[in-house]
Amino acid sequence: MADNVGNSSGKDYRLDVPPKSGDFHVKGLSSCSWGMKNRLSRIFRPSSGNTVMLAFDHGYIMGSTSGLERLDIVIEPLLPFVDVLMATRGALRTCVPPDTNRALCLRATHDASVLFEDMSTGGGAGLDMEDALRINASALAVQTFIGAQGERDSLELLCRTVDLGERYGIPVLGVVAVGKQLARNARYFLLATRILAEHGAHMVKTYYCEDFEQIAAACPVPIVIAGGKKLPEDEALTMAYRAVREGARGVDMGRNIFQSEHPAAMAMAVGKVVHEGFTDREAYEAYLEMKNRS
Ligand code: 5RP
Repeated sequence: MADNVGNSSGKDYRLDVPPKSGDFHVKGLSSCSWGMKNRLSRIFRPSSGNTVMLAFDHGYIMGSTSGLERLDIVIEPLLPFVDVLMATRGALRTCVPPDTNRALCLRATHDASVLFEDMSTGGGAGLDMEDALRINASALAVQTFIGAQGERDSLELLCRTVDLGERYGIPVLGVVAVGKQLARNARYFLLATRILAEHGAHMVKTYYCEDFEQIAAACPVPIVIAGGKKLPEDEALTMAYRAVREGARGVDMGRNIFQSEHPAAMAMAVGKVVHEGFTDREAYEAYLEMKNRS
């Protein structure tokens, strides 16, 4: 095992050199199987290489969350504006029309609920691969807790899910969850994102922070950013804009869309940044225009 003596943190990120992606539009995944590439192409649009994932899996640890009280009402109007639905199987089966052609990223773990003081103790497998196939998942999401009590179990679960994903051609999204005692800074996210990728995650979800370019450069697979707590719409669009400019391949955004004053306009505006090269200011104008029209 490598020891940590003499292992200093990396500094040479070669930000002037674009990532090598081979003959496939998704970073680091040109040697995957046909089925996996087909699913990845449903997630990351070939035209932009990016994705807008709508995260509405919050209920799996939080119960009814503000903005998601009525999944059967709030999700459907957002479908035209997003590429991927990130949700639990319970929410999908009950509240999303099965004729949707959006890609599905299924939450594959159960974790400690919000009632626990420390939610980073980790959880366990949340579904069988067989059920994921039945639901027609394009990806599976595994929550991980680097540097927290749940680290070992969550990495074990990530590894086993990646094994199954490789067997069946389903990519795995490694989700960086930040324990209560840990700082949400570049040092932590550099460590956590790379650890998940090296354990086989095909894509990684993390938060935006300072020096994000380094984090994206050092991660050999695509990174999507979580939106985090609700911000004013213009600020959330600025965060998405900066993240994409600095190397994120899209967003996996929840509260900043479904808690927005106009969720559909916000989802549309995020898509303008992620897929169409809009600046944050242009996207905010598009948001206001759609909001004022309705
Ligand atoms: C919880 C998650 C959520 O899906 C994620 O946090 C995205 O939602 P938001 O943009 O509201 O943060 O992974 O662990």
